[in-house]
Amino acid sequence: MAKRAPQQTMGVVCAPGLEDICAGELDALGIRSRRIAPGMLESRVTTRQVYLATVWLRTASRVLLRIGSFEATSFEQLEHRAGSIDWDAHLGPDVAPAFRITSHRSALYHTDAIAERLHRFVGPPAPEADPDDPDAEVVVSQSFVVRLDRDTVTVSVDVAGDGLHLRPWRHRPGRAPIRATLAAGALGLLGWNGQVPLCDPFCGSGTIPIEAALLAARRPPGGSTGFAFQHWPSFEPGTWASVNAHRPADPPSLVPITGYDRDEDALARAHDHVEAAEVGDTVTIARGAISELSPDDGAGLLLANPPYGNRLNDGDLRPLYQRFGTVAAERRPGWGLAVIVPDDRRLLGNIDTGLTELGRFSNGGTTVIVAYRPPVSR
Ligand SMILES: C[S@@+](CC[C@H](N)C(=O)[O-])C[C@H]1O[C@@H](n2cnc3c(N)ncnc32)[C@H](O)[C@@H]1O
Repeated sequence: MAKRAPQQTMGVVCAPGLEDICAGELDALGIRSRRIAPGMLESRVTTRQVYLATVWLRTASRVLLRIGSFEATSFEQLEHRAGSIDWDAHLGPDVAPAFRITSHRSALYHTDAIAERLHRFVGPPAPEADPDDPDAEVVVSQSFVVRLDRDTVTVSVDVAGDGLHLRPWRHRPGRAPIRATLAAGALGLLGWNGQVPLCDPFCGSGTIPIEAALLAARRPPGGSTGFAFQHWPSFEPGTWASVNAHRPADPPSLVPITGYDRDEDALARAHDHVEAAEVGDTVTIARGAISELSPDDGAGLLLANPPYGNRLNDGDLRPLYQRFGTVAAERRPGWGLAVIVPDDRRLLGNIDTGLTELGRFSNGGTTVIVAYRPPVSR
């Protein structure tokens, strides 16, 4: 009988509200999960599945691998029991540990003091970069997430290193971009995966069109390099090779994806991002105000997060939202309309009274809803 690969516990962090979409992505990779807290899923997985999840999940912001758990009610116990964890498996030469610590209902609650003790044991933090010395050697850090709850210390290693929402192609995000993981979440809530053309008439730095293009082409959202686990001493090159060979079913023929914005600076960013993400074959970015949106008799999906504003300038946003709704219905009657907007019914109604909520999630502390109305004519 074939030997089964050993299993470990993996935590997947996503925006609260996107757990079902993220669990669906895990399912598609053959990984069963359960929701253990808002924005947190847990699975028992093999190393291959950890690599797969890190590369392929579009809505996850972090993939965490549990590497130890113990009780500690004193700093002495903390230091002593931290010795049961194989830190070196995740710290290459010249890599410094970094700790993200939370503590609830525990005798040890001073997170800075906990970090200091762990650094004493595991290794010093990376020195701060010196802005006056650009030639100074930069020390890379590996993040560990340390959670104390009722005196139980649970340690996980951050498999990707940086948050997965920091897509490598997005090097010039600009003002008010939507998180790439949330754009992917909205596409998931809408069930769009490349069947019909997509247009974002308020595309800003291009996040929605680019996420859509990568999804439609069945390409990983962040490429396949630059993950922390690739530098771990415990890295398994053979397992990684098999993950790299993983290809989802071929995409159907690619549909056109367009993005418009009236702001030159935003467009320059969007063009740079399209080039960096290598999606120029399907994504076209062009200058245009919403009032100039071209008519199209076919089918498709309009998806945008229009300017948010705040309560103080709601009055300014209303005419723009109304114009958006009218232009969408008159010039793209066969297109569904979807918006990602703050949870404000009055504002939503200004776009289209037929918009209904598909889901909601938190975008940097603001509750945001995804609302949809089907095509007005079919
Ligand atoms: C919330 S931002 C969109 C951010 C974008 N999703 C991203 O990830 O970068 C709204 C965008 O709408 C654009 N905008 C504002 N008024 C517009 C109009 N009348 N027509 C077209 N674009 C407009 C702004 O320039 C801004 O880039």
